[in-house]
Amino acid sequence: MSILVTGGAGFIGSNFVLDWLAQSDETVVNLDVLTYAGNLANLASLNGDERHVFAHGDIRDREMVDKLLQAHRPRAIVHFAAESHVDRSIHGPDAFIKTNVEGTFKLLESARAYWTGLDGEAQAAFRFHHVSTDEVYGSLSADAPAFTETHPYEPNSPYSASKAASDHLVRAWHHTYGMPVVTTNCSNNYGPYHFPEKLIPLMIVNALAGKPLPIYGDGLQVRDWLYVGDHCSAIRAVLAGGRVGEVYNIGGWNEKPNRDIVHTVCTLLDEMRPDPAGPYSRLITHVKDRPGHDRRYAIDARKIERELGWRPAETFETGIRKTVQWYLDHADWVAQVQSGAYREWLSTNYTAR
Ligand code: NAD
Ligand code: TYD
Repeated sequence: MSILVTGGAGFIGSNFVLDWLAQSDETVVNLDVLTYAGNLANLASLNGDERHVFAHGDIRDREMVDKLLQAHRPRAIVHFAAESHVDRSIHGPDAFIKTNVEGTFKLLESARAYWTGLDGEAQAAFRFHHVSTDEVYGSLSADAPAFTETHPYEPNSPYSASKAASDHLVRAWHHTYGMPVVTTNCSNNYGPYHFPEKLIPLMIVNALAGKPLPIYGDGLQVRDWLYVGDHCSAIRAVLAGGRVGEVYNIGGWNEKPNRDIVHTVCTLLDEMRPDPAGPYSRLITHVKDRPGHDRRYAIDARKIERELGWRPAETFETGIRKTVQWYLDHADWVAQVQSGAYREWLSTNYTAR
């Protein structure tokens, strides 16, 4: 038995592959094109482990994906591969349409051809698990109830619009062709192997380098933070017991304004790696806001708890401490991802801001 994971060299995908193989002997075929966000160093601990099969390729390459499915005959596809950074989607939406929309469409078509050819029992047991985001629901006012699975889709960024389109394709492939799909919409993740273009790792990495900590606008935008290991356990729960055709929201019950997140990171670093120059919060700077910046996301995760008994294991306090410790312990990983392309991105997003 095996599963096929797409985007398994990225942040959440690599955590998922590591978690999966820590708990199961079922082979993971990992299809990843290795964009700037994909990093095989995340999976270095699996070198020589036959349960991990890495396939370098693009989800849009029908012929290659068709062959991969025939060669490995997975019982499920867990689809993480995406362009995932809102700020990059503002500067260059093209790649988001190509991977998130066209890529999901092509992958669904490969999956459908493969699934149609399975025998009855294998066909019924097959799952296409689409990993998506709470950002498809748009922005909440301060006192609005959290997003449930039936909240209207109101995406506001090129990233969230492309993910919304991919969610709709997955839904349609179930309704039209009967494909056994499940979709999960998760809130903001944080944890090990998080590329330092996103808020939490950027703040840790910049603080340690004595660089400014750029907060967009007033910093009162709210996100619902979930430790990545909890996202992985939720996906496993949905894959194992989620009802076909259903959507499950995944969240941390942990809404916090960005400003608080940055201060928490600074306080932890003050304790764990004090800087003789003074508290890290001295580096905080408020910079021009993100265009179309969503004010608040919040997930109502009662459905997954009610149906599948899933709840996050980490609180924000335990998860963020582990995360800061991980970055302190993995300076080599941080140095390795700060390539020329990474420096170019910092210049595009921050220098001219
Ligand atoms: P990431 O950007 O860290 O990783 C994406 C991975 O996909 C990379 O390894 C990249 O090389 C690969 N990839 C990109 N285009 C590809 C293509 N055309 N073919 C094959 N591989 C390709 O992203 P992430 O943060 O790990 O997010 C994973 C998934 O989870 C995404 O679908 C994202 O929308 C969703 N999600 C992310 C968050 C979050 O907070 N990061 C929250 C909710 C949902
Ligand atoms: P991010 O990690 O990019 O995730 P998303 O936009 O998908 O929620 O950003 C999280 C929040 O942090 C978001 O409100 C934007 C804000 N932010 C900053 O204030 N400064 C930064 O340098 C970055 C990268 C994000």
